Amino acid sequence: MNAIANAKPYFPGWQLLQIPGPSNVPAKVLAAMAQPTIDHRGEAFAAFAKTLLDDLKPIFGTKDDIVIFPSSGTGAWEAALVNVTSPGDTVLMAETGHFATLWFKLARQLGLNAELLPGDWRKAADPQAIGARLREDKVHTIKAVCVVHNETSTGATSDIAAVRAAIDAAGHPALLLVDTISSLGSVDYHQDDWGVDVTIAGSQKGLMLPPGLGFNAYRAKAKAAAETARMPRSYFDWEAMRAAPLTGQFPYTPATNLLFALRAALDLLAQEGMDNVFHRHARHARATRAAVEAWGLEVLCVEPEHQSNVLTAVVMPEGVSADGFRALMVNRFNMSLGNGLSKLKDRVFRIGHLGDFNDMMLIATLGGVQMGLIAYGVKPQTSGVEAAMAVLAEAL
Ligand SMILES: Cc1ncc(COP(=O)(O)O)c(C=O)c1O
Repeated sequence: MNAIANAKPYFPGWQLLQIPGPSNVPAKVLAAMAQPTIDHRGEAFAAFAKTLLDDLKPIFGTKDDIVIFPSSGTGAWEAALVNVTSPGDTVLMAETGHFATLWFKLARQLGLNAELLPGDWRKAADPQAIGARLREDKVHTIKAVCVVHNETSTGATSDIAAVRAAIDAAGHPALLLVDTISSLGSVDYHQDDWGVDVTIAGSQKGLMLPPGLGFNAYRAKAKAAAETARMPRSYFDWEAMRAAPLTGQFPYTPATNLLFALRAALDLLAQEGMDNVFHRHARHARATRAAVEAWGLEVLCVEPEHQSNVLTAVVMPEGVSADGFRALMVNRFNMSLGNGLSKLKDRVFRIGHLGDFNDMMLIATLGGVQMGLIAYGVKPQTSGVEAAMAVLAEAL
């Protein structure tokens, strides 16, 4: 035994955080957070906060109000529901995967009559099924349709414009609530053009911030619903936040330094240009899927047109533990991959390719996965890294 063989693993450099959020935080965003905290009731903060709320609007594709809560995405889910519903209201939720199911459970816990349109966790939300259920609801009991834009547990992205079209074709007045927690800032999104009534978002994925901010963007119909909605609410009350865009004042202490970080992240996104950001994510997703195919493994989402640009969930061969593989990846290569959630536990691993991410980071990620597969005894059919490099070398 020599000294090297006995050495404890030590990993110079950064850990590759390739879970599908929280994503890697850019150095400029980290530096912005390291500024001294300032008085959130002072003039300097008010001026800063006003511009921030305005500059968020293009990211959501809206001209309407946006509120920011010091919360995780779950808080933003709850905020959306408590502002537009009353106890006992019916809401229709599309079961795209783990996160849609968690949102459904949250709605039940709030006292809503939440209905889950069943799905097999390998596809996007089905606009036809949503339309059919709404047509059955002749007396318009359903108050809202809730859809997760990018289902982070499965890597399926739903067509929100098609869901809106299905609601309209059914002649149903239900509000459309969309969770963009893992799509906003990574995948093209247009709240106003797509007729979304409430958009729910979080800070820790495409916006490239650490976790801690939750967002609701809402349009006139949702605002009107909030005026008569009777669900108890206080911390998440939109009304209390209404003055913020005008005064830069929040009803309670905002997460000041996360807002500094948000400013830096918005500047980075504006510098790159949103179309370029979306294109970069699409290209990395394409290269990742080419790698998975070359390895001879299966992408969990079976609908090619809905495969996510944010993450790729990879199905492990029968009898091979995805969690054992993920543990090896951390211990040998200092890279975190996403786990399989609830019914996908131990069956899939998820590669996050979102946020502050470039070609070289992707190749390092895929190289790590390929080495890990070999070390774990899952012999790749061919080189996924080469397949991905071919995609990346082909065009920008
Ligand atoms: C699509 C989606 N919705 C909701 C959530 C829950 O957000 P949070 O964990 O920030 O509360 C997540 C978290 O990953 C998510 O990916």
